[in-house]
Amino acid sequence: MTTYVGEAVDRVDGTAKTTGGARFSAEYPYPDLAHAALVHATVARGRITRLDTTAAEAVPGVIAVLTHRNAPPLKPAPRVTPLNLATLASGTSVNYLNTDEVHWNGQPVAVVVAESPEAAQEAAHLVEVAYAHLPATVDFAAAEPDAKPQKSNLIMSGGAVKGDPEAALAAAPVALDLRYTTPPHHHNAIEPHATTAHWADGRLTLHDGAQNIYWTRDHLAMRFGIPKDDIRVLSPFVGGAFGGKTMVWPGTILAAMAAKATGRPVRLMLTREGVYRTVGGRTPSTQRVAVGADESGRMTALIHTSVTLTGRVGGGPEQVTSQTRHLYDAAAIRVQQNLVELDVLSNTVMRAPGESIGTFALEATVDELAYRLGVDPIELRARNEPARNPMDGKAFAHRKLRECFEQGAKEFGWAGRNPEPRSTRDGRWLVGTGVAAAYHPSWQFPANVTVRLSADGTALVRCGFHEMGMGGATAQAQIAADALGLPVEAVTVEYGDTRLPTGPGAGGSAQTASVAAALVAACEKLTRLARALARRTPGAAGASYPEILRLAGRDSIEARVGSDTRLGTAVGQLRFAGKLMSDRRRWVKAACGAQFCEVRVDADTGEVRVTRWLGVFDVGRVINAKTAASQLRGGIVMGIGMALAEETLVDPRTGRIMNASLSEYHVPVHADVPAIEIRYLDDPDPTMPLGLIGVGEVSITGVAGAIANAVFHATGRRIRDLPITLDKLL
Ligand code: MOS
Repeated sequence: MTTYVGEAVDRVDGTAKTTGGARFSAEYPYPDLAHAALVHATVARGRITRLDTTAAEAVPGVIAVLTHRNAPPLKPAPRVTPLNLATLASGTSVNYLNTDEVHWNGQPVAVVVAESPEAAQEAAHLVEVAYAHLPATVDFAAAEPDAKPQKSNLIMSGGAVKGDPEAALAAAPVALDLRYTTPPHHHNAIEPHATTAHWADGRLTLHDGAQNIYWTRDHLAMRFGIPKDDIRVLSPFVGGAFGGKTMVWPGTILAAMAAKATGRPVRLMLTREGVYRTVGGRTPSTQRVAVGADESGRMTALIHTSVTLTGRVGGGPEQVTSQTRHLYDAAAIRVQQNLVELDVLSNTVMRAPGESIGTFALEATVDELAYRLGVDPIELRARNEPARNPMDGKAFAHRKLRECFEQGAKEFGWAGRNPEPRSTRDGRWLVGTGVAAAYHPSWQFPANVTVRLSADGTALVRCGFHEMGMGGATAQAQIAADALGLPVEAVTVEYGDTRLPTGPGAGGSAQTASVAAALVAACEKLTRLARALARRTPGAAGASYPEILRLAGRDSIEARVGSDTRLGTAVGQLRFAGKLMSDRRRWVKAACGAQFCEVRVDADTGEVRVTRWLGVFDVGRVINAKTAASQLRGGIVMGIGMALAEETLVDPRTGRIMNASLSEYHVPVHADVPAIEIRYLDDPDPTMPLGLIGVGEVSITGVAGAIANAVFHATGRRIRDLPITLDKLL
């Protein structure tokens, strides 16, 4: 029975957020609270040769200036091991304030703690640091020729080949071989990273905006050398994250260190500049996409290679070529990701890491092939739509891409389109339309959940998952309400606290499916318990679950899925890994979609405006019509930013980010975003819990490709270098 699943249920946290009742990490009012500010290195690599804190210490209200000379010792960042996934959480491998070495331009070299944030900030500016420079490689463009092939590991494949694509390309009657470039990006969540840290009796309480509170807890336990049970991480409200709050970055660690060193509760809220300097962003990329086809438009060769960066102190590969293994049924395919290592801050996951920029290059190339062949771009995609995964013939768990394009074409009015570039003009505006495919893999992680049903007709769901604004808690409340036959208002969902049963990280668009699987199982256990109780209770036959409890004289019953004991955790991980492997052998699982847009380009200035958008998505069953559409819309807004505005500028001489502020790093504002129409097929994926596929990331993919294709249609110009700023169109 479903009453709430699929409905546009209001957010359970909506009132708290709109009335100011929701408390974010920098809003916890401890008595005696002190405030911290960071001092950032101004060289890419070097050693601190002189450090003068006298002026900083003289600022009224300053409590302490921590540097590598007086900071408490920290254990080094752990080595990554598959036996402990929390070892993946290190933002960087640097042991902050435990070394005089600088590894990136912006690394924190001191923390000022003061009675007020203003005093801390003022004093931070007065810390004098001199450096001996060490040789540094910071210029991605210059380093690109030295890229090395990415090795495959358990999580990610570096490359793969089917057939002989280079020979097939050379022999193809129609062939393209193109190069694309994309710049670094930063997440720019509305809430800058913030931590409030409080030590009492050797135990740490940490309020920290996080996408994985258990990783944060376990990481800090390793760094401070204390049992993880002595750390509690609370993260009930997070003001956006997009991947930027997945790893543990220096601010979190240094807030805890400052609180320990001063014996005061400490709040460290990063400035916007501080976020750029100490939290990784998306890698820049260069990409080669080559495609060969016969005259009928059947692809005979498809090659996609990429170069991206990692920091020498951390970060990892981004799966730029991943979608190219799944989208087109080419006879021969090669994908290969390559890496350079630079003396810059680690890159990190950012909404659809890999696919968001990979689909730009792939989908622009497919459009270009369509024009070369004189075939409609949607028709070309249909001719190359695979029945099974093109690389290895595996089955798709769910693949409705063709349906997305068909529905989208109908609603967008694609059929009437004149494909001729520069054929439509409206006054000074050149008008164009474009399409692209969206694609993002679908994942699921282990989760522990307890559900308690009370005789008063309420239910309590407990799971340490994360709410960064997506509507995750609302979705779980709907699922529990349906499973227990309760009004959704009667369900309370607790999340964002490491004291709760261990939840999944919010990443990979996997959180809702991961929690739902455990929640559904827990509700089934609970209703079995209730029915067993009913059989023993006179007059309880046919009663509602709360009524059964009342008749049986029970206040509540509880069911639990998963275990947080050491053994339970190990068994859970093994079971999870086993299912993951068997799933992977059988299926390719993903969300996909079709992006349609209209752009207008000023014929004189080259200004690009996006004027229409329709996205049609195959995301399995939708749990909440409102929050899912909102998630999908948000990805498109972020994609518009990627296509037209966003670009982190790094000084190639010094490795310093030059536009570390929202006044110089441009994100789309309301005036830049048209009404975005969202459709989803709402067709359940039978291999996923409740048939749902995650909606967090798929909708940013394909956006930049669709815009680049529309810009070509409007102007006749192919821009293969993001962002598509007006100078490139003049
Ligand atoms: Mo994400 S980049 O899975 O928050």
